[in-house]
Amino acid sequence: MTLLRPLTVLCSLLAATTLAKPLYKPRTQSIQWGPCDLPSLNTRPIECGSILVPLDYTNPFSNETLKLALIKSPAVVPLSPKKSILFNFGGPGYEAMQTLNGIADTLHNMTGGRHDLIAFDPRGTANTLRFTCFANQTERTLANAKYPLLAASSEGDLTRIVANSHAVSNLCAEAHAPNDLTTRPSIPTLIGTSFVARDLMQVVDALGEDGLLRFWGISYGSLLGATAAAMFPARISRLVLDGVVNAHNYYHHAGVDITQLLSTDSAFRAILASCLSAGPSRCALASLNSTSAADLEKTLLDLAESFSRQPLVTSNPTGIITKSLLLELYFIIVKYPSGVIPTAFSLFYDLLQDRTDHPERVNNLYNALQGSVSTGDNDALLGILCADKGYDKVATSADDIREDFTAMRETTALFGDIAGAVVTMCAGWKFRAKERFQGFATDVTATTKKIKTKEAAVLFVGNTYDPVTPVVSAKNMSGWFEGSVVLERNGFGHASIAQRSDCTTGIFREYFVNGTLPRQGTVCEVDESLF
Ligand SMILES: *[C@@H]1O[C@H](CO)[C@@H](O)[C@H](O)[C@H]1NC(C)=O
Ligand SMILES: *[C@@H]1O[C@H](CO)[C@@H](O)[C@H](O)[C@H]1NC(C)=O
Ligand SMILES: *[C@@H]1O[C@H](CO)[C@@H](O)[C@H](O)[C@H]1NC(C)=O
Ligand SMILES: *[C@@H]1O[C@H](CO)[C@@H](O)[C@H](O)[C@H]1NC(C)=O
Ligand SMILES: *[C@@H]1O[C@H](CO)[C@@H](O)[C@H](O)[C@H]1NC(C)=O
Ligand SMILES: *[C@@H]1O[C@H](CO)[C@@H](O)[C@H](O)[C@H]1NC(C)=O
Repeated sequence: MTLLRPLTVLCSLLAATTLAKPLYKPRTQSIQWGPCDLPSLNTRPIECGSILVPLDYTNPFSNETLKLALIKSPAVVPLSPKKSILFNFGGPGYEAMQTLNGIADTLHNMTGGRHDLIAFDPRGTANTLRFTCFANQTERTLANAKYPLLAASSEGDLTRIVANSHAVSNLCAEAHAPNDLTTRPSIPTLIGTSFVARDLMQVVDALGEDGLLRFWGISYGSLLGATAAAMFPARISRLVLDGVVNAHNYYHHAGVDITQLLSTDSAFRAILASCLSAGPSRCALASLNSTSAADLEKTLLDLAESFSRQPLVTSNPTGIITKSLLLELYFIIVKYPSGVIPTAFSLFYDLLQDRTDHPERVNNLYNALQGSVSTGDNDALLGILCADKGYDKVATSADDIREDFTAMRETTALFGDIAGAVVTMCAGWKFRAKERFQGFATDVTATTKKIKTKEAAVLFVGNTYDPVTPVVSAKNMSGWFEGSVVLERNGFGHASIAQRSDCTTGIFREYFVNGTLPRQGTVCEVDESLF
């Protein structure tokens, strides 16, 4: 594997460190909570505030600060003394304030209502050093159309996709070209995960409670939480890592996590099986009289394949329905099944009767789902992920990442063609996080020295049929943390907010309030059905 060491990034390479303790003394600031600019979207009022954190934790000579805006949904019945819980909702790049506001009622219910719930928009998003490579969404869409992360139906496509990713990396570099007039470090070097972990601890300091972090990290938020715990083990009180990313693969391989799709195929099959058992009155696809889930799966894959031979051009909205668009639709539905499946499956049923029927319905559904899963008008996912990578994991050529590309494709037979390309996302990336976390470097083994968190051990959570963060990653990450437990939920979708489960809620409440972990091997059923 060729190492990438471009001269332009050597300086930041030297500055990158893995510091065990903060360079900065905790600031003695407190948070003035007051009304928010945004309306409350839940049954209870919200409050907003802000703190100043160091802009660049690696530069002890700078006193430049960054304003972190905070949102709080106060406890229903507060504990005394107060014990707040902080959140990150993943991406990387999801805006956290909006999300907390949207689902605070559910989160209170699941944590017992005794804690203030707090979130801030992480670096790279919203007004916190928003990272973007494009002037607006139109420009972003144009660039993505010109340099797509193509469906790769063969290994031979890899060179072309890598070239596309290079082109996007160059556009991002141009958008953040150094400016002689300022000595301020450029945004893409300041948004890495280690700095966000330090921001979390700054918020804990400013809250002035017990100085310990209580945190629930979802998806990429689990990677942030694992990183914070590895950096500050003595400051962790409660840690729920939910929809777990394999940190070794995130930090030390190309792509988001090359094993993240290990359960995707079984999730798709399990959804089809549960359609068949729900029957035609509740699931349109059951009226095809498929003899088995495998049979129904073949029918749906053949439907997608038919658009490979004959894509359908549509107007209003203008688009082309291709095989990969259909596969992407299937994928999104498996990731976010709640509420979507009945509509989507009756559409597929109608397409199977006549593939040219109502093509605009396909486009509309695709656009609606894309809109609801997008991380919004920023490029934080790219900016954070790529800044976090090791030098040897940001590819210059196809040869650098062929192995990871193949591994990613092989984790899912059904979706490998549309998902393999994500390993090329950071090809040619020009920026490194000023502080790049370098832990989780080896594979975890029985003799690995475990991370010991201060109060309660870590609670890992995974859904049996989570198509993007398999339970096996939760088990793997649990190996790094002393006394940690994996809770499996026998359900669908991404992370524990995908489907209601009273069993999970009981365990979360007990953990956050009393620090009690479930028995190793506990499996929770869910109390919400797909159909
Ligand atoms: C810190 O900030 C003050 C103004 O707030 C400025 O006068 C001073 O030069 C700064 N120090 C450094 C080392 O940048
Ligand atoms: C929590 O949610 C469940 C299910 O929606 C509901 O039955 C219960 O009453 C809620 N509990 C509280 C304290 O809000
Ligand atoms: C988007 O940005 C481009 C380039 O700056 C500009 O020409 C265009 O008018 C903008 N479009 C919108 C919709 O704002
Ligand atoms: C499925 O079976 C039912 C009952 O035998 C029959 O009425 C229906 O036409 C069949 N549907 C298809 C698509 O074959
Ligand atoms: C954990 O994950 C790493 C990276 O994928 C893998 O190499 C290792 O074998 C896994 N270990 C266990 C115990 O599952
Ligand atoms: C926590 O412990 C207390 C005291 O043992 C108990 O009364 C309570 O039911 C436990 N669980 C929760 C969620 O408070």
